[in-house]
Amino acid sequence: MPSKTVLITGANGEIGHGLINFFAQDGSHKIIALDIHDIDDTLTDKCSFIKGSVLDEALLEHIFEKYSFEYVFHLAGILSTGGEKNPLFAHQVNVTGSLNLLNFTRLAAKKREEKITFLFPSSIAAYGIPTLEQKKKAGKISEEQYLFPITMYGCNKLYIEHMGRYFEAFYGLLEPHRDTYPLIDFRSIRFPGIISAETIPTGGTSDYGPEMVHSAAQGKSYSCFVRQDTTLPFVVMPEAVDALIKLSEAKKSQLTRQVYNITSFSVSASQIAGEVKKYFPQASISYSIDPNRQKIVDSWPGDVDDTKARSDWGWKPRYSFESAFAEYLMPAVIERYRCSSLKKCQNSS
Ligand code: SER
Repeated sequence: MPSKTVLITGANGEIGHGLINFFAQDGSHKIIALDIHDIDDTLTDKCSFIKGSVLDEALLEHIFEKYSFEYVFHLAGILSTGGEKNPLFAHQVNVTGSLNLLNFTRLAAKKREEKITFLFPSSIAAYGIPTLEQKKKAGKISEEQYLFPITMYGCNKLYIEHMGRYFEAFYGLLEPHRDTYPLIDFRSIRFPGIISAETIPTGGTSDYGPEMVHSAAQGKSYSCFVRQDTTLPFVVMPEAVDALIKLSEAKKSQLTRQVYNITSFSVSASQIAGEVKKYFPQASISYSIDPNRQKIVDSWPGDVDDTKARSDWGWKPRYSFESAFAEYLMPAVIERYRCSSLKKCQNSS
């Protein structure tokens, strides 16, 4: 029985799947998984699942009273495209939800007199480059540049990065004895687009990458909502999970900042389509531009500088663009969809 416990919010989301699978295999931690939606059948045996919202303070109080967490991975949130459909609701979930988590983590740490490490996935959506020309000229963006997000999601991510910094360093500056022991050790990664073979994202704007891959593998035609030349940095899911685990395990003394860029490869939509067609030559991919979503990705960097993550805690991508497809994405999606069509055949026979 593992003696340590980890809380994962938004557990049924894409990164949640990856993290639960990692911790279940690793066996080092009991996993408490929180999500507003039912957890996937594939994850039920791997964690203790609690259905509920990060806005439900009574539930959070109960969870933090019942379990002693070593790590909190706060993944719950509404993504960039979803957030623009109802910005105030996105703000409530993303900001109030995160403040609730930070606050209950702080209270639990204070009660136990023991620091809790808080991992927060931020995003390239925290950046906002004013024009395409500037995006092309800017090249690799460092963590301090162009912090003018144009989406509610991006604004929320940037603000929560600051709240994490505040909770770690300054919470209740005037509280007596606040310096006796550290309460929260806040660490964050600004993720680029993520492509997973196991799950399909909903409500994001980098979704065209994974959608192209999954549609082709299912033999479905795909209409891409951004221009062919649209370029973003990406990682694949095993790299995203590696990065979160590596950052969570790094010695505090190695870290020179709290928020880090990471990237694996930077490619255009047409390059993704080209790679997909190498494996699925019949794939039908067309382009029908959604001006609102295009505007969002145009404001995000075409590449990011991840030097600090590399030098501080040893971040290193596992794949190149080509090897991510050859060694991870293609074998896994081919297996996945062949299995599901086989299953369908077996069920109906
Ligand atoms: N993948 C996210 C989105 O598209 C960005 O972090 O909203």
